[in-house]
Amino acid sequence: MSRRRVSPFVLLGLLFSALPAASHSFENTAIVRTVDLGGSLVYVTTTFAARALEQDASIYTIALGNEEEEKTSWLDIKVKGQQESLAASTSYDPQSQMHLLDVVLPKALNLNSTINIVLETVQTHVTWAWPQTAAQGDGQALKYKTNLLVPSPYKTHVQRTKVKSQSPNIISHTTPKHLDAFTQEGGPVTKSGATITYGPYYDIPSSTDEDFLTSVQQSVVVHYSYDYPVLEVLKLRRAAEISHWGANLNIQDEISLHNAGPTLKGHFSRLEHQTQSYFKRPAAHVLPSLTLHLPAGIRNTYYYDLIGNVSTSHLRVAPSAKKATRAQYSVFEMKPRYPLMGGWNYSWTLGWDSPLENSASWDAAAGKHIIEIPIMTPIVGAVVNDLELSVILPEGATDVSCVVPFPTSSNIIQSTHTTYLDTAGRPALSFKYRDLTDKHAMSIYVTYRVPLSAHLKKPVAVAAAFFSLFTFALFARRIDLTISKKGRNVS
Ligand SMILES: *[C@@H]1O[C@H](CO)[C@@H](O)[C@H](O)[C@H]1NC(C)=O
Ligand SMILES: *[C@@H]1O[C@H](CO)[C@@H](O)[C@H](O)[C@H]1NC(C)=O
Ligand SMILES: *[C@@H]1O[C@H](CO)[C@@H](O)[C@H](O)[C@H]1NC(C)=O
Repeated sequence: MSRRRVSPFVLLGLLFSALPAASHSFENTAIVRTVDLGGSLVYVTTTFAARALEQDASIYTIALGNEEEEKTSWLDIKVKGQQESLAASTSYDPQSQMHLLDVVLPKALNLNSTINIVLETVQTHVTWAWPQTAAQGDGQALKYKTNLLVPSPYKTHVQRTKVKSQSPNIISHTTPKHLDAFTQEGGPVTKSGATITYGPYYDIPSSTDEDFLTSVQQSVVVHYSYDYPVLEVLKLRRAAEISHWGANLNIQDEISLHNAGPTLKGHFSRLEHQTQSYFKRPAAHVLPSLTLHLPAGIRNTYYYDLIGNVSTSHLRVAPSAKKATRAQYSVFEMKPRYPLMGGWNYSWTLGWDSPLENSASWDAAAGKHIIEIPIMTPIVGAVVNDLELSVILPEGATDVSCVVPFPTSSNIIQSTHTTYLDTAGRPALSFKYRDLTDKHAMSIYVTYRVPLSAHLKKPVAVAAAFFSLFTFALFARRIDLTISKKGRNVS
């Protein structure tokens, strides 16, 4: 399959191509899907209660429709109640137009024994503002569309889908059609508070069954109020620069944020905004400020935008922490120069230094440094459409290698970065990702060797720089003298 975005099959990776996809080895006794509606991110948890119809059944297949697969940015499969993610291989079945995930179970099941498999996904770019425009004081509502039924290559005895909104104000929802054969008392859909329940539906055929695709499966749309801004990071450029010389790790983010809520109707009134903020919380589609969790022990934090330094921000630094006590973080409350209205963009640069020892370790056996670089600092509820992370290593670093927690969207590029006082340039690695969610806020590990000669090169370069500065100073003083003499002559 051609992947535009980061592969959701992150934790999968293994290939078991020789194993046949046996569609008769299981039946689903129940499927329950829960959709937690959000803004840019929608969290979906699906539990498959499966029963083995064969002795030693060891591969359970999960199906995802084209559209769902396209919108799934993160995916994880576990046995219910267990910590470990299960490996799966993926393939595409053109006949049913389904992406199939062949999940390798921890151990083969006996005939008639059961297992609960939990599929967790995060969908991105899956909601849209409706209406598409809103005046400054209006509320905000979004629409979400999904398939009514969870596809599966197996027959399903009973399934239901719960769509939950954070606000109890669900404006409308689709009532499914032509389902009489699959519903019993209660009808095809019920609404209770902030939850819409589709189902229970009984005896659903396999999704490879032609009837399933043509007459049973259908789309449903839920229209709901959403009380927080819908945020998208259009672009995030992170540069992480390692200096052994200064025992420092500098991280700088260039962030371009977009409010993907309804676009502002009419003009922005600061007075109206201030009045709203004073008497109640500002309208749902307006972002007045942001809170970010930065690492502990940071210093020299800077925040500027196109106009200059932004002083309306507040930083509370947590004391420096070694990796063992990762729970602590510094809290950065930033106020954009203007409240971010629907459809508006705001770009800024945020950077900080931190002690290198907080992220570096030494692999004595390999004689290599290991540096942990966080891929991003998540903004709550925001998707990162396009991310590029550059890791700039010390000058002369060799044997560079890296471990990524999930595949990049294009090849990792190694290049050379040259700055002031560098003689040979610094090796730099560049990682690109698309459509990242809070679940992707993990770290890249880079290992490298710094030969002793490279450690010495720096003092030599610095000495040379000092020397030329000194020479320049002498020279400058001479000129200076001449000028001042001239000055005196004039006066
Ligand atoms: C498995 O279940 C079926 C149907 O419930 C039953 O007929 C069969 O005897 C069971 N087989 C075993 C080995 O338990
Ligand atoms: C911005 O802040 C930095 C650090 O506080 C300072 O060095 C710099 O001069 C400031 N720039 C402007 C334009 O105020
Ligand atoms: C926000 O940025 C996007 C992408 O660069 C651009 O298409 C859009 O026009 C911008 N919106 C505004 C209001 O400037």
